[in-house]
Parts: sequence; structure tokens; C-alpha cells
Amino acid sequence: MNDIILKVEHLKKKYVLERTLLGKEKLVLNAVDDVSFTIQKGESFALVGESGCGKTTTARSILNLINVDDGKVEFDGKTLFDMEKKDKISPKDMSKLRKDMQIIFQDPFASLDKRMKAYQIVGEGIKKHKLAKGNGVFKMAEKYLEICGIDKELANRYPHEFSGGQRQRIGIARALAVQPKFIVADEPVAALDVSIQAQIINLLNDLKLRYSLTFLFISHDLRVVKYFCDRIAVMYLGNIVELASGKDLFENPLHPYTKMLLESIPVSHPKLRRKTRNLEESEIIFENINKGCKFYNRCTFAKDGCKNKKPNLKEISEGHFIACHEHI
Ligand SMILES: Nc1ncnc2c1ncn2[C@@H]1O[C@H](COP(=O)(O)OP(=O)(O)OP(=O)(O)O)[C@@H](O)[C@H]1O
Ligand SMILES: [Mg+2]
Repeated sequence: MNDIILKVEHLKKKYVLERTLLGKEKLVLNAVDDVSFTIQKGESFALVGESGCGKTTTARSILNLINVDDGKVEFDGKTLFDMEKKDKISPKDMSKLRKDMQIIFQDPFASLDKRMKAYQIVGEGIKKHKLAKGNGVFKMAEKYLEICGIDKELANRYPHEFSGGQRQRIGIARALAVQPKFIVADEPVAALDVSIQAQIINLLNDLKLRYSLTFLFISHDLRVVKYFCDRIAVMYLGNIVELASGKDLFENPLHPYTKMLLESIPVSHPKLRRKTRNLEESEIIFENINKGCKFYNRCTFAKDGCKNKKPNLKEISEGHFIACHEHI
């Protein structure tokens, strides 16, 4: 029996940056640099890493929202694209498949149309995918708002009349209302106060069990994914550097970068986070000229060999993968 719902193979996406410190030389940023993983049906799979490591680019590539340079993605037995074979799903088939692949965004305010009422926001997908007609759309939208903790009395309100946590509940109801199989949650709690974060994670956990959902959960904060995810992939500058079950990753982190993430105290506010850590131009330049491990210049365990040879992701123990010369 094949329980895999999503298969990502050798995904690559680069951006050519115009601004440059090196005269006229172009800077190529390998935002996603050969990423492969699978997600099982009903699993919650986390992508974790600092700002700019390629989490959102990976998610947008999987959802077929951007064109990639290389790789293959299969969802629920269908090929969304296979760059080697120059194969891509038709826009019509992709549009149908969007019902099964939903997304919850980081910023619940920016992602909700300010001119639409809560029930209209949730009802849009219901109408598009013909899941109800006429007044049935309103009733169904109300139902999903209530499931997500928004009283139906409030269904006529606009996004600005809700709190941040409530807005995120509307965003979740919008995704849930089309009865998807798979949800990408891209930093769904990063913009919320810590007290509200736990409520939203609890809601997602309840929905996951109630509707047998599969999640790709993106976060910069390992503490958030700890309570939600079955397996965790740690990303660094476009690569997965460690992949393990949540239990293994927390009890036995192996990659020096994972250890660093676990030791660091995350800054909770996203605006502060952006200031503290984003991919710097010097790192992009380093990445372009670097033939070895991308973590080399930050790694306290680095040896000479790490400078010249890229480490591949290898299985160290059952289900525990790591890309580090120290462990291979
Ligand atoms: N359209 C674009 N044009 C140029 N560079 C881009 C574009 N989109 C993303 N990037 C760059 O690609 C890298 C990966 O970006 P991405 O948004 O995937 O990171 P992320 O891990 O989601 O970060 P964050 O935690 O801040 O959301 C970053 O350096 C980013 O600046
Ligand atoms: Mg992102």
C-alpha cells in the first residue's frame, strides 16, 4: 500500500539578484538547492530554519505557484511537474487539484481581503469548487467558521473587526471549507502573541485528527513544531541538513546547525526576527563561490575537508538523515 501523498524530488529554484557587491558579476541565489522528501498521508511534516533559508519557496514550488528550475513533485499520485521530462499538469487539472491542496498564511490580515465579510472569504472556495449553492454557501461558510472557533453571529463582520487570532481562524476556515487533503501552513502562528499561538496550534491539532489532514508546517521556531509535527526537516541555505522524527530530532540532534537552533532563544516577533537574521549578501556570495558545506563558516566543528566537499543527506539511523561530514 502506498501511503505517500506528496513526493518532492531534487527540487531547485534559483533567483538572479541584480544588486551586487562584485562589480557587474551577477549574484545567483540558490533559494532551494536540491531538496527531496516525501510526506505520508495523515502526517504532519515540518520545514524549519532561519529566515531566508527557502521554506516558503519550497512550499510555493510544491503548490505549483512558481516556476522551478529543476525537480519533480507528485501529489496524490499525480505529477504536478517533472522538469527533466518537461512535463507539467494542465492549468485546468491544477485548478481542480487546488481544492485538495490548501495554504494558511503567516499574516492573517494581509491574506484576507479587507472588503469581504468573513463568510464571503470562507464561501469563495466553496463556490469555486461547487461544494454548495445559493444560501447553502453561506450556511457552509458559517459551519466552518464555527468549527474554527468563530461564532456564526460574527460571520457578517469584516477582517478589521477581528483580533489577530480570530483572523487566523478565518484563514484556517477558508482552507478547511473546501475539504482539502493537504494543507501547507506557512508560519501560521509567527505573527501572533505567544498566548494565542498555543490556541491556534491546538485548533490545527484538533482539525488534523478530525479530518485526517496531512500538513506541511513551516516555522522558524522548533518549539512550535515540537507539539504538532511527526517529522521535522531542518533547512539551511536551500538544503535540508537534517531530517528525523520529532522525537529523534529533539532527543538526539546531530547536525551542528540543528543543535544551534535548539540552543538559540528565538525572537518571537517576525519584524525583529527579520532584523536579527536574514540571508545576507555576503552569505549569497559565499554560497556562490563555496564548493563545500554551506554551514562551514558558522560551524564550530568544521574541518578542512568540509570546505571543499558538499555533504549529502545520508541515513545515519532508521529514518534519521543528516548532511554533515562529521557524521559520515
Ligand atoms: N521573488 C524573489 N526574488 C528574489 N529573491 C527571492 C524571491 N523570493 C525569495 N527570494 C529569496 O530567496 C531566499 C529564500 O526565501 P524564502 O522566502 O523561501 O525564505 P523563508 O525560509 O521562507 O524565509 P522567512 O522565514 O523569512 O519567511 C531568500 O534569500 C529570499 O530573499
Ligand atoms: Mg517564508
